[in-house]
Formats: sequence, structure tokens, C-alpha cells
Amino acid sequence: MNIQIFKDYASLSAFAAKEIIHMLKQKPDATLCMASGDSPKLTCELFVKKARDEKVNLSEFFFIGLDEWVGLSGDTEGGCHHDFNKRIFNPLRISPAQYHLFNGLSDDLENECVVMDKIIREKGGIDLMIVGIGMNGHIGFNEPGVDFKLLSHVTELDETTVTVGQKYFQEQVVLQKGITLGLAHLMNAKKVLLLAQGAKKAAVIQKAVEGEISNFFPASIMQQHLHGYVLVDEEAASLLNKAH
Ligand code: F6R
Repeated sequence: MNIQIFKDYASLSAFAAKEIIHMLKQKPDATLCMASGDSPKLTCELFVKKARDEKVNLSEFFFIGLDEWVGLSGDTEGGCHHDFNKRIFNPLRISPAQYHLFNGLSDDLENECVVMDKIIREKGGIDLMIVGIGMNGHIGFNEPGVDFKLLSHVTELDETTVTVGQKYFQEQVVLQKGITLGLAHLMNAKKVLLLAQGAKKAAVIQKAVEGEISNFFPASIMQQHLHGYVLVDEEAASLLNKAH
């Protein structure tokens, strides 16, 4: 695992967006997997801008959504699918043939997981995964206590996830379960960027990077990824003890 500390959220996001562009120039048919939420928001914006400015060939890449809230339709504002439509698919006119997201409304969620795992296998794995970190150390909906070996799965959401998750929605929504790629996908991804910004993430970053590797703090698994990069701004890095 590597740690990179940036002056601010803007420079961190510019770096992450550049990573996507660089990958797509090297490998136009790459598979990109992203989390939604606040952390990658500016990365998406800058990626869209750079892809347009540099006329990057986007006709062959494939996009995978990291997770989804169970019970929400794809057009619920604040949901992951809605975020990706707004942030990436609509502005870049990416056709549905070029992405796969979990359907949180499916009446066969187990099959959603089987299909997701099959697609990732058929694509030859994930080239670049961009994730955030929750206030309980989750990545995607890999909640505290998760089995590190899991692929896609459905899970009960941790109390912190439910409480913090309300921030994405204008109106009160029932958040109980999530469907997510597993940490085995993260470990199998060729490269992972974990993004965190702001003082509120300082304690979880310290635990993820310098704490014990434990499934009770899922993001600590990043310490074991050879090509895992934790990208933080100075505020999120403020509790790190060791010299990075
Ligand atoms: C969202 C997701 C979550 C978030 C995490 C951090 O798709 O996978 O794990 O990445 O909860 O959320 P933000 O970035 O909003 O602080």
C-alpha cells in the first residue's frame, strides 16, 4: 500500500482523474469500478472534463458500480445509479452496454451478485477501482465484520452506514441492506485508489493505514494491496503518526 498526501481535495481529485485518463489511454478497453458518494465527486467531474478536452477514446471501456442501496430504484436521487448517470454516463453519453450496476430493486439479489461476478470475470478483472471510506471503515458496503474473501454479496447495513447514508437523500429513505462488490474483488483489482478528504476522515484514515488489519475495520485490508493507493488531503492525513 502507498499513501499520497495532497494539499487539498482539488489536487487529490485531479490526480485521481488523471489516473483514469492515463489508464484509458494505455488500455482503451479497461474496466473501471467506482464508488459513488462524496469522495469521488470531483474526480468524476474532472475525468469528464479531461476526457472531453483530450478527446479520449471512450468507446471500449467498461464501467462497474461498486454498490447500491437495496430497495432503491436506479432513478432515486442520491442512489448510486442516479449518481453515475448524472456524473458520468449522461455527460459522456456512455451507453448502457458499457456499464453494469447492481439493481437494488431486483427481486433476485443473489442473482444480481452472480451476474456481477460473472461480468467481472469475463472482463478479465477490474483494472482500476476507486473507492471511498465510511466512518466505520467500510469500503463499498463491506461492513465491519465482513469476510475478506467475499465476492459480490448482499448485507445488512451497519448502524453508522444507515445514519451517515441519509446525507445523500433529500427525503428520509429506508436504508437497511446493501448490495456490493466484495473485498476479494478489491484485492484482485490491478490497482485501487482510496480517496478521503477532510478532518472528519482523519481518524478512519489513521486506523485504516496504521491500525491492525482486521475485518472489523474493513478498509485496513488496503494495507495488503500491493497496488493500493490511499490518496488523502492534508486534513484527512492529520492524524497519521508515521512519516509517509
Ligand atoms: C458509496 C460507497 C461507500 C462510500 C463511503 C464514503 O458507493 O461505496 O462505501 O464510499 O461511505 O462515503 P463519502 O465518500 O460520501 O464520504
